[in-house]
Amino acid sequence: MPGSSRLSVSLRDTFRTQKSSAQGQLLYLNLDVLRNIVFLLFLLRWTRKGFYQLKGRGIGGSVVDVYNYTRKILYGIFLRLPGVRTKVQTQIAESILKLERKLVPTGPGVERTVTLPAEGWPEEQVKAALEKLADMDHTRWEDGRVSGAVYHGGDELLKLQTEAFGKFTVANPIHPDVFPGVRKMEAEIVAMVLSLFNAPEGAAGVTTSGGTESILMACLSARQKAYIERGVTEPEMILPETAHTAFRKAGEYFKIKIHLVACKAPHYKVHVASVSRLINPNTILLVGSAPNFPHGIIDDISGLSRLALRKTLPLHVDCCLGSFLIPLLSKAGFESEPFDFRLKGVTSISCDTHKYGFAPKGNSTVLYRTDDLRKYQYFISADWPGGIYASPSIAGSRPGALIAGCWASLVKQGESGYVDACHKIVGAAKKIESAIREDPALAADLKVVGRPLVSVVAFLSNTIDIYDIADGMSEKGWHLNALQNPPAIHVAVTLPIVAAVDKLIGDLVETVEEVREKERRRIAEGKGRKGAVKGDAAALYGVAGSLPNKSVVVDLAKGFLDTLYKA
Ligand SMILES: *Cc1c(COP(=O)(O)O)cnc(C)c1O
Ligand SMILES: *[C@@H]1O[C@H](CO)[C@@H](O)[C@H](O)[C@H]1NC(C)=O
Ligand SMILES: *[C@@H]1O[C@H](CO)[C@@H](O)[C@H](O)[C@H]1NC(C)=O
Ligand SMILES: *[C@@H]1O[C@H](CO)[C@@H](O)[C@H](O)[C@H]1NC(C)=O
Repeated sequence: MPGSSRLSVSLRDTFRTQKSSAQGQLLYLNLDVLRNIVFLLFLLRWTRKGFYQLKGRGIGGSVVDVYNYTRKILYGIFLRLPGVRTKVQTQIAESILKLERKLVPTGPGVERTVTLPAEGWPEEQVKAALEKLADMDHTRWEDGRVSGAVYHGGDELLKLQTEAFGKFTVANPIHPDVFPGVRKMEAEIVAMVLSLFNAPEGAAGVTTSGGTESILMACLSARQKAYIERGVTEPEMILPETAHTAFRKAGEYFKIKIHLVACKAPHYKVHVASVSRLINPNTILLVGSAPNFPHGIIDDISGLSRLALRKTLPLHVDCCLGSFLIPLLSKAGFESEPFDFRLKGVTSISCDTHKYGFAPKGNSTVLYRTDDLRKYQYFISADWPGGIYASPSIAGSRPGALIAGCWASLVKQGESGYVDACHKIVGAAKKIESAIREDPALAADLKVVGRPLVSVVAFLSNTIDIYDIADGMSEKGWHLNALQNPPAIHVAVTLPIVAAVDKLIGDLVETVEEVREKERRRIAEGKGRKGAVKGDAAALYGVAGSLPNKSVVVDLAKGFLDTLYKA
């Protein structure tokens, strides 16, 4: 029946148009609502961000932040102005060239190996070449002239470590069935360090290639925990500004936003109330150092621990430097402060076996209060064509030799050996500290930063340029660490320095006298501080300190890294 079919067609069409126009309206309505929702969410997000910024930094602090940021941008634009840019780049290039001349030996006498020798060298030749390389002109760490850097436990221990390397040169803990001894040693190292830091039942840890990796892993674990348990996708962590820069590296690598909290005079400890204000739902980790690298100051870990418990947040304590000294301070007869797992809020600790544990370089541990926290740092790949793959930290293959060297060091030293070393090292640090505080020749111009309890003594000056002191000490063959914000230098005492500590104090007295004399002469000649010939540290930090935007320093530092790879 054609009629009725026509009717049904037209009915169907009417219905369809009606439906589609209704759909159109609905769609329009939906779009409108959607747009409003998106806008509201956007508004909410920025209101929230603004709210937490104001809560965290206060109105005054926020104004300073905006001011500093604007200065950075404006100075950045200034640096890119055509005339300025070429001038700055020429100067950077010059500085890098100077650096290169210092670091990379040149001249007719220098042999360079930049392609594989066609025929392998005879053993004797290799040995002679190694001898020559070890003897290259250098700052004499052997005579205790270098702050930090060389943390060894004496010649006897070095020999034992070398023997341990020899036995395990090919070992790789990634194959525990092939190298069961290495697995056993690694597990025992972690257990020994856990007990040193008073870890509770159920605590766990892993070994890593150094303090930086330990810190990276602790940050990763906290980030994963917050993501999996609370759905945090824009993680933030709160650091004392003096915390080791490895935390900032973790921020960059793992996309964790970083809040820095000032550590002001006279204590130079992190201000816990400021940390508290910065906490928001995106916070994944609080951090304290015991002690920190710049000033050797132990943060208020008890205060941080209470805060962490109240806010149910993880707290990492960086004991990379404190390593085997800080847990033994009391036993060695020195004053100490609470810092370890006995504080209930502490959830992870990094401890470098390769610092005051005297293990070979490339060795550290990271400890967790619970096994769950450790699991958050594991990497597992279940469907890789190469097989089911599981590794605890960043590295894949790892040198079993280093583990053997570390294990040998720990058991050879034993608790008494480390207490003895603590006695010597912290004792020497105290000697330097009292000299600066009490020797009139030093006390007039130098000031100790805070009250250091471990092995680092930092000092600054309100009367002379502290970097001139650093340069003056360099001329006398010492390598001290230059610090910034505020300008200061520090000595990290190691066993080799213990034997040279009187010489160090004597040279410091002389240097202060020389710098003071030079400044006096300059003022007498009416020249003032400007125009003085500066040493390396004074020149670098003098300029860097005054820059609102450090991009020039960044370029310089990149050039430095490039230089390290010039053959
Ligand atoms: C040395 C140190 C670290 C880690 O440094 P690595 O060179 O990676 O071992 C971390 N924190 C502090 C306070 C340190 O002194
Ligand atoms: C802002 O800049 C001032 C002056 O340069 C500096 O002293 C201060 O530390 C900066 N503040 C922050 C939070 O970066
Ligand atoms: C600092 O200066 C550099 C170089 O001019 C620029 O690229 C960078 O954006 C500046 N930093 C800020 C925060 O503006
Ligand atoms: C020692 O160093 C190796 C290589 O970096 C690392 O894989 C291992 O876990 C470390 N062991 C200890 C005990 O620190």
